[in-house]
Amino acid sequence: MTGPGSVAPDPASAIEELRARIAYHNERYFVLDAPEIPDAEYDALLRSLRALEAEHPELVSPGTPTGVVGARPSGQFAPVVHRVPMMSLDNAFTPAELGSWADRLAKLVSGDTAFECELKIDGLAVSLTYERGRLVRAATRGDGRIGEDVTANVATIAAIPGRLAAMVGEPPELIEVRGEVFMPVSAFAELNERQRELGGRPFVNPRNSAAGSLRQKDPSVTAGRALSFWAYQVGELVPSARSHAAKASGGDVEPVDSAATQEETLAWLERAGLPVNPERRVVTGLDQVLAFCRQAEQRRHQLDYDIDGVVIKVDDFALQRRLGSTSRAPRWAMAYKFPPEERTTLLHDIQVSIGRTGKATPFAVLEPVFVGGSTVSLATLHNEDQVRLKDVRPGDTVVVRKAGDVIPEVVGPVVPHSSGPRRRRRWRFPTRCPSCSAPLLRLPGESDTFCTNLDCPVQRVQRIAHFASRPAMDIEGLGEQRVALFVERGLLLDVADLFAFTAETFTGLAGFQSRSIDNLLGAIDSARHRPLHRLLTGLGIRHLGEVGSRALASALGDLEAIMAADEERLASIEGVGPVIGSSVTRWFASEVNRSVIDRLVSAGLDTVEAGHDADGPGGSVAPTLAGMSVVVSGTLQGYTREEAEAAVTSRGGRSPGSVSRRTDALVVGDAPGASKVQKAEELEVPIIDEAAFVALLATGTLPGRPVGTRPTVHRSGHAGR
Ligand code: IVH
Repeated sequence: MTGPGSVAPDPASAIEELRARIAYHNERYFVLDAPEIPDAEYDALLRSLRALEAEHPELVSPGTPTGVVGARPSGQFAPVVHRVPMMSLDNAFTPAELGSWADRLAKLVSGDTAFECELKIDGLAVSLTYERGRLVRAATRGDGRIGEDVTANVATIAAIPGRLAAMVGEPPELIEVRGEVFMPVSAFAELNERQRELGGRPFVNPRNSAAGSLRQKDPSVTAGRALSFWAYQVGELVPSARSHAAKASGGDVEPVDSAATQEETLAWLERAGLPVNPERRVVTGLDQVLAFCRQAEQRRHQLDYDIDGVVIKVDDFALQRRLGSTSRAPRWAMAYKFPPEERTTLLHDIQVSIGRTGKATPFAVLEPVFVGGSTVSLATLHNEDQVRLKDVRPGDTVVVRKAGDVIPEVVGPVVPHSSGPRRRRRWRFPTRCPSCSAPLLRLPGESDTFCTNLDCPVQRVQRIAHFASRPAMDIEGLGEQRVALFVERGLLLDVADLFAFTAETFTGLAGFQSRSIDNLLGAIDSARHRPLHRLLTGLGIRHLGEVGSRALASALGDLEAIMAADEERLASIEGVGPVIGSSVTRWFASEVNRSVIDRLVSAGLDTVEAGHDADGPGGSVAPTLAGMSVVVSGTLQGYTREEAEAAVTSRGGRSPGSVSRRTDALVVGDAPGASKVQKAEELEVPIIDEAAFVALLATGTLPGRPVGTRPTVHRSGHAGR
């Protein structure tokens, strides 16, 4: 990723570049639980994009990240459609920003507005569906519309009741409770202690370990992780028929749907046995809101769970309805984010590390300091300009903070008083690579510096380790340390060498028993059959992350087509754009890279994307669906959602997210959205299954008769609200 200073000058390219960068960081944060930049930096990217889009509304496209809540689900768990979308919150970073929100509200509503102030729990949003009082499903937020089914894992969380407490009257027919799953700070400390004893890498913070623990394939792992939960909202709600009738006749019931305020809802959830955070207050006026925020900030480290701010919600539901929402967030709520904590420490040295693309990143070597919940001894300084701008020099006392409470950052030096000690000279960026001594190069107009030697051993190790990593070829047992060993012994020059490994390769290598050799050879062998998008991710092409690789692979279907496509064709693919497009064509134009690809192909690697129908003139797909609109819902066996949609669009059709009069067919997989099915039935849109979809892709015509009228809807027949 390039620094903010390198954003392209023309607005279309700048927008494209910002979108690519935001998509990349979304994936790191939401899908991989491994953020690379602090929240504040991410927010700044989003703000720049919003500002540019506001200036150039003609350049706003439907999928822009400014209108999207989070990332798409990873595909590891079954998808769950949120019938009431799970929205995000707008952020205020200063009391003044909170004040302007309050002013905007005051113009829209008269009188003193009551606000519920709640703590903003730093965990991950989860939706729990209770049918007649029983927990039947738990899902992550995903992109706000489709999350992942994590029921088996959530069922292991002791704080979450499997049944709602018996109350007066009947439980609702269906109630969807939303809240935050988190890891208590004490449990996090214990987990890391255990992790250290086992020699594993410690987790970054409680939020990431909660996210990682919830998305385990094996629920018994989740069970061992001491997760907890605070409920804060009701999503979908279908009251019980009897409580409805009893309410009408003035009977003695306690229905949640009569709650008229946020506080009444939270009190109901508490009585139903759900954990609701007691640290909340209904207040009026900005002064009281700010007082709550100040107190929360002072007390934050006395709590056994991490919070990153305060959520302020208009308490009255009638007012909430009047205020409504944007596509991303409600207007009736605001998150007030705490400023990051700061500490001072000694800057011992500035060193440079080399990444897989050769990028030379300066970093600060610090006297260890405890800040924002953990000890920091290293912090990135990003690039040469940042070091110059901050004017930090070895020997300085510097201010360090955890930006976004995750990534340590050096804010700047505490400049000594004129009578104090003299500072050392300004730090100079090294002219040679610390690993291979090749000259370092910074191109005019760019903020990053690179080691241009492709044979640089550190780059080689990083490139190969990236190829083997989980989001790429997922070669289990091939981490950075082993790669470094193979590179050092001259056994591995590039990724294609891996596929020539045999048992003999390991002769004389310490630390490999015959079982671990077999396992590694087996893992390398299975990597031959990964889908194309993983191979593309693994090649480490600049700007091309997992999301862009998926888009490329599903649009063009095989590696040959991607290599043959020109920059313009690549740029025209939704989710790719000109920045990635030109980077990809440049990568494949290199003879060295082409020869690696030739050797990978000769080694028998699959180079097609599963589910993509690549038959058609010239490798591109025949436009069998020109002018047709096909909506896809539920899980298909042979396609991910993106692949199915791409299969339609690459044939000249459209694949919108909702059913309308103009829809030609609704394709239903497993557990489709009930509202889409209902709408299709109402509008008499043909509902087809996966086999008919495959036939439709091939022939462009629908089967004579729709396949059944109602597929299995895994929702016990509840009508949507
Ligand atoms: S209400 C439409 N209340 O913050 C409003 N969210 O940045 C939905 N969060 O996605 C959210 N504590 O994961 C709400 N007391 C609280 C919260 C809270 C933490 C999280 C939640 C949400 C995110 C938005």
